[in-house]
Amino acid sequence: MNDITPMAVAPLVSSRGIAVLGSTGSIGTNTLQVVEHLIKQGQPFEVIGLAAASSWKKLAEQAVRFNPKVVILTHPANAGDLTELKTALAHTRIKVLTGDQAVVDLARRDDVAVVAASVVGAAGLAPVLAAAEAGKWIALSNKEALVVAGCLVIPLVEKSGATLLPVDSEHSAIFQSLRSGQLREIARIILTASGGPFRSWTVEKMRTATVQEALTHPNWRMGPKITIDSATLMNKALEIVEAHWLFNLPAERIDVLIHPQSIIHSMIEFVDGSTIAQLGTPDMRTAIQYALTHPQRHGGCSSRLDWSTIKEMTFEQPDQRFPALGIGYEVIRRGGTSGAVANAANETANSLFRAGKIPFGKIVDITSGVLKKHLDHGFVGQPQLADLLAADAWARAEAAL
Ligand SMILES: NC(=O)c1ccc[n+]([C@@H]2O[C@H](COP(=O)([O-])OP(=O)(O)OC[C@H]3O[C@@H](n4cnc5c(N)ncnc54)[C@H](OP(=O)(O)O)[C@@H]3O)[C@@H](O)[C@H]2O)c1
Repeated sequence: MNDITPMAVAPLVSSRGIAVLGSTGSIGTNTLQVVEHLIKQGQPFEVIGLAAASSWKKLAEQAVRFNPKVVILTHPANAGDLTELKTALAHTRIKVLTGDQAVVDLARRDDVAVVAASVVGAAGLAPVLAAAEAGKWIALSNKEALVVAGCLVIPLVEKSGATLLPVDSEHSAIFQSLRSGQLREIARIILTASGGPFRSWTVEKMRTATVQEALTHPNWRMGPKITIDSATLMNKALEIVEAHWLFNLPAERIDVLIHPQSIIHSMIEFVDGSTIAQLGTPDMRTAIQYALTHPQRHGGCSSRLDWSTIKEMTFEQPDQRFPALGIGYEVIRRGGTSGAVANAANETANSLFRAGKIPFGKIVDITSGVLKKHLDHGFVGQPQLADLLAADAWARAEAAL
C-alpha cells in the first residue's frame, strides 16, 4: 500500500463555485446551510448550480435564496412541474433545465470548482464520473457511486488530479484521523454503526417490521433510502466497500463495531497500537463542512457534544441477525460487477419495502440472492462502464421479480 490517495490535497482556490447535486435532500439541504454559513464567514463560495429529481417547490425556494446560474429538475413528477418551476423563477436570470445530462454538464462546468455529490443511489454515478474526469473537488456523499464503480472513479480521480473528499461521517472520521499517520501505517479501520432501530430485535420480529418502524432511526435524521439501509445494516455494507476504495484497504483491514450512541464516528488502529478516533454529535454538517474546507477548519454551524450529558459509550460486535455486512465484504473480495449488482438489487428491494410490497426481512434476502446468481453467471471481473450499467439494469429487473 502506498500513500498516494485520491484525497491528495489540491491547492485551495480563491473562488469556489459549487454545484449541489441532490440539493433538496437531507445532505443537500445541510450542504446549503454549511455553504451559507461559510459565505457569512467570508469564505469565497458561490452557488453555481442546484439539481434535484422532482421537488420543484423546494428547488425554487433554494434558487431564490442562493441565486445560482442554473437549476435542474431531472425527473418532474407531473407534466406541469417544470413550467411551474420556470414561472417561479421568471423574475430571475436563473436557467431552468431538465434531464440527467444537464446534471453531468453542471458537474463539468468551468465555473464549478466543487461538486457536492449528494444524489441518492446509482443515479449519482454519472455526475461523479464527470466531476472526477474534469478534475473537480468532489465532496462525496453518494457512496453508491463508489460501490457501483469505484474501479472507474478512483483511476479517473488519480488521472485528472481531482480531489475526492468523503462526507459520510464514518469516512470523514477516518480521513480526519488519518492526519495522525500515513495510509501505510494503518493496521485496520473500525467503522462504527449505531445498529439502527432493530439493534436489539429478534430476527423473527424484524422480518415483519413496518415501514414506519424501520424509518425511525434512533440517532440520525436522513433520507428514506439510507434510513432503511441503516435498519438492515446494508448501509454499513455499502460503507465497507466505500472505505475499501477511498483508503485502498483490503476487506481484512475493515472492521465494523456497533456503537449505539453514535459519538465515535469511526477510528483507525495504527500499526504501533495507537487508536485515533473522531467524535462529535450526529450532525452531518460537521463532515460536510470538513469536506468543503479541508485542510482548514473554520467555525462550524453544527451542534456540539455536551460531555456533561454523556453517561456511557458502549460497543458490541455485529451478529448474524444482520447478514447484510457479509455482502459488503463479498463485494470487496469479488470486485468487478459485484458492487453494481449488490447496490442495484438493494436499491430495488429497499424501495419495494418502502412501497409496502415486500416484508422487511426480504430486503437482504433478495439482495444476496441476486448477487449470488450474478456471481454464478454473468460476473465480469474487469468491467467497463457499459458492463456496470448492464449489471445494474439486470439486477434491478431480477430483484423486482
Ligand atoms: N442523509 C444523511 O445523513 C447521509 C449520511 C451519509 C451519507 N449519505 C448519502 O448521501 C446521499 C444522499 O442521501 P440523502 O439522505 O440526502 O437522500 P435524500 O434525502 O433522499 O435526497 C436525495 C436527493 O437526490 C435527489 N435526486 C434523486 N435522484 C436524482 C437524480 N436522478 N438527479 C438529480 N437529483 C436526484 C433528490 O431530489 P428530490 O428531492 O427531488 O427527490 C434529493 O435532492 C446518499 O448516497 C446517502 O447514502 C446520506
